[in-house]
Amino acid sequence: MSYNLLKGKRGIITGALDENSIAWKVAEKAHEQGATFVLTNAPIAMRMGEIKKLAEKTGSEIIPADATSVEDLTNLFTKSQEVLGGKIDFVLHSIGMSVNIRKNIPYVDSNYDFFQKGIDVSAMSFHKMLSVAYKMDAISEWGSVVALTYMAAQRTYPFYTDMADIKAMLESIARSFGYHYGLNKKVRINTVSQSPTRTTAGSGIKGFGDFFDYANAIAPLGNATADDCANYCITLFSDLTKMVTMQNLFHDGGYSTTGVSMEVMTKLGIE
Ligand SMILES: NC(=O)c1ccc[n+]([C@@H]2O[C@H](COP(=O)([O-])OP(=O)(O)OC[C@H]3O[C@@H](n4cnc5c(N)ncnc54)[C@H](O)[C@@H]3O)[C@@H](O)[C@H]2O)c1
Repeated sequence: MSYNLLKGKRGIITGALDENSIAWKVAEKAHEQGATFVLTNAPIAMRMGEIKKLAEKTGSEIIPADATSVEDLTNLFTKSQEVLGGKIDFVLHSIGMSVNIRKNIPYVDSNYDFFQKGIDVSAMSFHKMLSVAYKMDAISEWGSVVALTYMAAQRTYPFYTDMADIKAMLESIARSFGYHYGLNKKVRINTVSQSPTRTTAGSGIKGFGDFFDYANAIAPLGNATADDCANYCITLFSDLTKMVTMQNLFHDGGYSTTGVSMEVMTKLGIE
């Protein structure tokens, strides 16, 4: 349903790989709520056929950018402002990749080149994106930037390996940059900590199915879907959440504050 929450707003949406991607849903909902935006993804990761469908559906242009490249990001913010006709009001950072996870390497045996790559792609890219935008003064006052994260930044999930440390860094960047960007340009920066979600990145995690079911059995509302996550991101891009910044916001059906649920107790055979 459209409330025109983003009417007249211009955005940049990263990370829409296919229709399961959280970013894909955010793009659909941002379009529904009246925004115009640019879609971007890494040239090598981009499935052109897929993202073109989304671009057509939402009337968006695609500007490829590797989020680890300051040059690409500078081009992204320059061209996006040209295409959209002004400063950017919202940015979604929906980028995550760990080679250690992909190759099934246990945390204690982490390969450091892979670790470094994971940091660069999944956390440092956020700093680079913000720094490029800040120096170019490309985001309008009261603009909103959201990055997606996972609760392994706070609590241990053995199979999430190096990505746990990387997400902790991502969340810290939201606070650190959020201070400077808020003080100097009134731009707000938050992370949304989402439930396990069946996407390419999510399903790459070892034991994802069991882990998804476990979270679903703990959370009183069940796992939040990609669609639910997109709705939440839209509210954070809207003016209704104007004073929210430097926060890590759990979007997980109550999972993060539930110790144990009756469902899990019953499964364990406890009366
Ligand atoms: N799926 C989950 O269970 C879950 C839970 C919490 C948080 N998240 C986070 O949500 C975000 C989006 O992931 P998703 O689950 O939608 O999966 P996804 O695989 O659809 O999206 C990840 C995106 O990152 C992009 N990417 C990778 N390297 C890049 C680079 N160098 N430059 C630019 N883009 C690059 C990929 O092309 C892809 O589009 C990630 O940050 C992920 O960690 C996912």
